[in-house]
Amino acid sequence: MLTLGIETSCDETAVALVEDGRLVGQQLASQVDQHAVFGGVVPEIASREHLRLLPVLFRELMGESGRAPEDIDVVAVARGPGLLGALLVGVSFAKALCLSTGARLTGVNHLWAHLLAPSLERELPFPALGLLVSGGHTHTYRIDSATEFELLGKTLDDAAGEAFDKVAKQLNFPYPGGRHLDNLGQESQPDTALFPRAFVDNPSLDFSFSGLKTAVANHIAAHPHLVLESMEAESLERLSAEKRATLAKVCASFNWSVADTLRIKVERAYRKAPDARAIIVAGGVAANIMVRAFMKDFADSHGLELVLPGFSLCTDNAAMVAAAGELMARNGKYHSLDMEAIPRGRTVPLDWISV
Ligand code: KG4
Ligand code: ZN
Repeated sequence: MLTLGIETSCDETAVALVEDGRLVGQQLASQVDQHAVFGGVVPEIASREHLRLLPVLFRELMGESGRAPEDIDVVAVARGPGLLGALLVGVSFAKALCLSTGARLTGVNHLWAHLLAPSLERELPFPALGLLVSGGHTHTYRIDSATEFELLGKTLDDAAGEAFDKVAKQLNFPYPGGRHLDNLGQESQPDTALFPRAFVDNPSLDFSFSGLKTAVANHIAAHPHLVLESMEAESLERLSAEKRATLAKVCASFNWSVADTLRIKVERAYRKAPDARAIIVAGGVAANIMVRAFMKDFADSHGLELVLPGFSLCTDNAAMVAAAGELMARNGKYHSLDMEAIPRGRTVPLDWISV
């Protein structure tokens, strides 16, 4: 079975081909540079760029892999949650391709795709706990199979990646800043008393990072010299040793507060799914070194398998959409051509058609 994956939910345009659980090829164009000047993703620019890039990437993928559009059995497209205009570009392209080639359509939940991405690298053990930490979402799940996800906890305000990006923005780090915060933080030990762990003194499985964000904002306001003079990547290299060490301590301490909050909430989610055999951690923030280490400790202390995708599978890509789409198709989960795109904030429905 040859499955094409299409990803256009945010600021990455990507296509990939997966055949029987193996990645055949992929093309990815990031729009980070276009959005960097605005300090965040501009939805209209994202849609226009998807429209411009998607046909080009598709042609390149077909050429590079030596396959023709008629060879595609299943077209899997990320249908949401995401930016509606951006999603519609991918969904319309997918439907047109299905109409012209006779391939079957399957709409993929972008969040599930993140968690199913490591199926390209290994067999996934179920039932599993899932922790999805991305720029838009912080969710915990009980996952019984590739098509059975039960949401256990979610963020009430900012997602973990958003918190990283907003703190980085306050420090005037290059955009997007999560990765830079991670890198600089590795140069210091955290001060665990510097910032609070957000929304943990309660029995809730949900997350809230706004209190932590405010605490960091207050700290930066009281220490304005921490803010970088310029947003360019070189400004991080030009720091004096003293300023670099102080800033590294702030980054490590903030990173610790996020990572330990995730650990506490995952411990709680595990009590709701005590038969889980593994924990799968996915999304852009799963690339964070401290988050990976804390999740390894959690898994080891409970005798669980830790499933972490390789770094390139953590952030948005189409290989994960193709992999998830192939798993949907193998379970007979397809969509008709009137499938809707689902914007952020709405639950992606389980509206598969029976075959
Ligand atoms: O999953 P993703 O590529 O896009 C969404 O679906 O949201 O995640 C992007 C997020 C951004 O907020 C980015 O700053 C964050 O992941 N991120 C990181 C790291 N690498 C990417 N955050 C912390 N540490 C990292 N190493
Ligand atoms: Zn994502």
